[in-house]
Amino acid sequence: MMLKVENLRVEVEGKEILHGVSLFVKEGEVVALMGPNGSGKTTLIMTIMGFSGYKVTEGRIIFKGIDITHLPVYERVKLGIGLAFQRPPVIKGVKTRQIIEIAASARGRKVDVYELAKELDFVDFLDRDVNDGFSGGEMKRSEILQLLAMDPDLLLLDEPESGVDLESISLLGKAINKILMRDVEPPPDKSMKEIKSKRKSALIITHTGHILNYVDADRGYVLIDGRIACEGNPREILKTVEKYGYGECLKCV
Ligand SMILES: Nc1ncnc2c1ncn2[C@@H]1O[C@H](COP(=O)(O)OP(=O)(O)OP(=O)(O)O)[C@@H](O)[C@H]1O
Ligand SMILES: [Mg+2]
Repeated sequence: MMLKVENLRVEVEGKEILHGVSLFVKEGEVVALMGPNGSGKTTLIMTIMGFSGYKVTEGRIIFKGIDITHLPVYERVKLGIGLAFQRPPVIKGVKTRQIIEIAASARGRKVDVYELAKELDFVDFLDRDVNDGFSGGEMKRSEILQLLAMDPDLLLLDEPESGVDLESISLLGKAINKILMRDVEPPPDKSMKEIKSKRKSALIITHTGHILNYVDADRGYVLIDGRIACEGNPREILKTVEKYGYGECLKCV
């Protein structure tokens, strides 16, 4: 098991947002997290990453068998969790090149920033301050680039494709797959089952499911009003929601 969230209750600014959420991500699994605006998806992954302001009042977060519920963010990064923000912050005075180096060193890695940036067509942005004046899609590419440098074992991706044009989504999808498959030898000498068992894990928040056209998701959850309402095949869930709305998911609760 890569990640296990057990009966998590989380308060933000004194208000309970997550009312006992349980979910898991197995080793090699890619899991989609869906749900209406304001249902608590970002709150959940910010809590898994350990940001202050998200107060766990009940429940536990277990990562690779370790209880990380009260560990600081940098310890979670060291253990192998990486997050791409829904709305990444602007950091004036820090160059994109520097943040990529910092991201790599947080995991004890040294990377060739230029080579990595080439993969995401991002070389021209390396000497600009982090996210300063970046377009929505450029910020998303910058986030994935930092994750490429970090090489986490569990990726938390908060709407990686939102605001990204169709061509760049395929670029992002390829980069995400590259992180997921880093230490896996390509087929045909390996079976799909074997490949998946060695793949890294991801929890991906998506509204449209576009990113799932590039990154093969195994399971999906629907979060509604701070509670898991449904678990199943992510493509089927998306189809159902498109047709009937999230109200249909509530019938499962
Ligand atoms: N700092 C805060 N103060 C007050 N309420 C907050 C704060 N942060 C989050 N919330 C509330 O928590 C709820 C869940 O927010 P969250 O960002 O987790 O939703 P989400 O599922 O990610 O939505 P979206 O799909 O729009 O990104 C919202 O009602 C939001 O207004
Ligand atoms: Mg969100």
